[in-house]
Amino acid sequence: MQNFDQIIQDALLAFAATDDPDALEQIKASFLGKNGQIPGLLKGLAKLPPDERKLVGAAINRVKEAVESALHARRESLRQMALAARLAEEALDVTLPGRGEARGGLHPVTRTLERMEGLFRSIGFEVADGPEIEADFQNFTALNTPEDHPARSMHDTFYLQDENGGVAPGILLRTHTSPIQVRYMQAHVARYAGAETMPEIRVIAPGRVYRVDSDATHSPMFHQVEGLWVGEQVSFADLKGVIGDFLRRFFESDDLQVRFRPSFFPFTEPSAEIDMAFMSGALKGRWLEIAGCGMVHPNVLRHVNIDPEKYIGFAFGMGPDRLTMLRYGINDLRLFYDGDLRFLGQFV
Ligand code: DAH
Repeated sequence: MQNFDQIIQDALLAFAATDDPDALEQIKASFLGKNGQIPGLLKGLAKLPPDERKLVGAAINRVKEAVESALHARRESLRQMALAARLAEEALDVTLPGRGEARGGLHPVTRTLERMEGLFRSIGFEVADGPEIEADFQNFTALNTPEDHPARSMHDTFYLQDENGGVAPGILLRTHTSPIQVRYMQAHVARYAGAETMPEIRVIAPGRVYRVDSDATHSPMFHQVEGLWVGEQVSFADLKGVIGDFLRRFFESDDLQVRFRPSFFPFTEPSAEIDMAFMSGALKGRWLEIAGCGMVHPNVLRHVNIDPEKYIGFAFGMGPDRLTMLRYGINDLRLFYDGDLRFLGQFV
């Protein structure tokens, strides 16, 4: 019996001496395996007289149970240790500060466009848009622009390729937002076809436009905001009022002057260029051209089936890139389109 307790002691010590699960299984074999100590004892039972056999057999079984339960306990504790080690290794320090989520922001020109939309909406204008790939009809023909007008030349306008590499007929990248006037009027006329009177049209249309042009003050893509007000009694005085009012609100200043300089556009008559100047500050007294405008040409109205004897209106095309440069004191248009976050981040 003394011998038996010793086996249990030995097993406990041997199990405790390793923290490697594979080694533990090896050690187990030397106690419980086929050629291990405990099966060896059981084999010896056969030689004992029957009355002793029962007693000794029971004692050996207790040893076996004790060793087995010690083995299970050690296995379990090794498993726990391995788990704890893995958890420690993969631990996340949730108290670490994050890497920081950079906050996006609107492009300065987008801010201007939104500001313009807000201001024009506040005086009853709708906001419309149209396709950047435009039809020749809306971009030129309906706007009273003759076949031989220089704006239609390849030097000024981006045309599109057809499948054979030739010039796709009848479509181009719009050179201005004025075709949206045409589309808007066409839709308006269709909507009120058959009605006795047609409600006034009051709309602005911001968007990108494309020209073959590139230097410090010209980019092949830039923005325009088109404006159109057509009704039965719309005058040049209304145009002046709307523009002057808009500019004072846009720049939050009464300290600016606006002038209308006679000009020419095929789609307006009379036509003017709009200049503005601040009366104080760094840009004091410098006149800057910010828009073209005029009274909508009767031919444009005819092209969209509006009776020029009954309806009259004004239109303008403004340069929001310019307005943005003025508002923020930026001197190079290209900064807007370089995508340099050091520049753009200043407007967030
Ligand atoms: N579409 C003209 C341009 O791109 C700008 C313009 C001038 C628009 C006069 C108008 C207008 O609506 O009435 O240069």
